[in-house]
Amino acid sequence: MQTDWIPLFPESASSFSWQIDALYFYLIGISVAFMIPIVAAIFWFIVRYREREKFATPEEIHGSIVLETVWSIIPFIISMTIFLGGAVVYYTQYSMPDDAMQVYVVGKQWMWKIQHETGQREINQLHVPVNTKVKLTMTTEDVLHDFSIPAFRTKADVVPGRYTYLWFEATKPGTYHLFCAEYCGLNHSGMIGSVVVLEQDDFERWLQGNAASQTPVEQGRDLFENKLGCASCHAGGSGQRGAVLENIYGKEVKFVGGGTAIVNDEYLRNSILNPSSQVVEGYQPIMPTFKGQVTEEQLMALVAYIKSLSGVDASATAPSAPAAPAPAPANNMGSNSNQGGR
Ligand code: CUA
Repeated sequence: MQTDWIPLFPESASSFSWQIDALYFYLIGISVAFMIPIVAAIFWFIVRYREREKFATPEEIHGSIVLETVWSIIPFIISMTIFLGGAVVYYTQYSMPDDAMQVYVVGKQWMWKIQHETGQREINQLHVPVNTKVKLTMTTEDVLHDFSIPAFRTKADVVPGRYTYLWFEATKPGTYHLFCAEYCGLNHSGMIGSVVVLEQDDFERWLQGNAASQTPVEQGRDLFENKLGCASCHAGGSGQRGAVLENIYGKEVKFVGGGTAIVNDEYLRNSILNPSSQVVEGYQPIMPTFKGQVTEEQLMALVAYIKSLSGVDASATAPSAPAAPAPAPANNMGSNSNQGGR
């Protein structure tokens, strides 16, 4: 469904934007379909039941099972179709494709810092190829923000201490608004940018014209092996002091003192910042915290590198923890909810 002809509507430029518009028009249609007969009935009753004689005693009205059943079942069916439409749209938008191009986003008062999986960095601009699934892994260095692209009909909160995800497939080359859609301080209104959708060839050219020194995985390996010295305990081989990191992504780990978790982005991030909150069975709680020593961008690189040790693509998203989650640490990082979309 094309809605570009409606002057008040933002352009429609993603694979699922028509779904949102269709649901929106469906809601408007239902509202109008009910409003017209109700307003007509009001006027009809005003005339029909006007006062004709003073202090008249009207005839009593008794209930009707048929009538009450009908006016319960019809709204029930209508509300279920709205629910189903919403569920389909939500499912499409918030189940992440595994074959997507990976982009990392860090929000900061008051800018968007973006890095591509091939290493290119941008600020307040995101270049993507057309007709390609793009998945964003997002977090923030300070307060809550919200990454919103109206032309793609998608947005998601960007939450401190947590990763949230967003995906889209742009269908038309062009430049589209990027907004922060969560009040985040004095210059919230200035936290804007653009998403530039390019033809595949133009995108390749853009990538080459913005060559990067290191990809996130390379940057993560550099931090791991040199700058942070993780390798001195986690280098692999027998008798290493730190937990094994190879082939753990997406698997379940058991903790000392009970509890399990699925190894996902969130878990890895939390293990770097709050290692003693989830000590894996068979290891000592000797790992120091790296809180305050690594930026969110470096954390994303480390997570990307550790994921690469399991042979998974950077765009993979492991499921959240099962019913019995790890003991929650003191801060809000214990939650394993992946989505902050609203
Ligand atoms: Cu960032 Cu509002």
